[in-house]
Amino acid sequence: MRIVVTSGLGFVTLLLLLGAATPEPRTPAHELFIRKGCAHCHQLKGIKEAKGTQGPDLGKVVASRSVDELTEFLAHPDMAGAGRHLPSLDLTPRQVGMLVELMRNPPRKRKPTPTPQPTPRPSPTGP
Ligand code: HEC
Repeated sequence: MRIVVTSGLGFVTLLLLLGAATPEPRTPAHELFIRKGCAHCHQLKGIKEAKGTQGPDLGKVVASRSVDELTEFLAHPDMAGAGRHLPSLDLTPRQVGMLVELMRNPPRKRKPTPTPQPTPRPSPTGP
């Protein structure tokens, strides 16, 4: 009996410890940003791995570029007149979309707003 109680407590403690130690899960776009090496050359607020200084701070870049420009650039980095960028990032159109979205809305510490809940109807308790 005692063993069961103890291991139960231990299990709860383990879960608590794990919960405290597990970092925020990365979104697929965040994952892609790391995997494609963007973080190696760029900074992007909200992505702590993004410490690169070879390329410009992407937070500043998005402030001065339209979605179309960003998309065009990532789809054809070699064509965009940016000779110093990688010849090709080898991104699918879907990945380009994910990265443009990520740059425009970098992850925050806190989740912005949870999915809006449908407004509860007033309960028909009145007369
Ligand atoms: C090897 C380093 C390197 C890697 C890897 C890299 N970049 Fe860049 N990036 C640069 C440099 C350098 C520039 C500046 C190019 C220029 O203006 O001539 C740049 C420019 C850019 C620009 C355009 C800035 C502007 O002024 O319009 C964007 C957007 C961008 N990078 C996004 C990315 C993304 C997203 C990834 C990952 C898929 C990535 N970069 C990977 C080095 C890199």
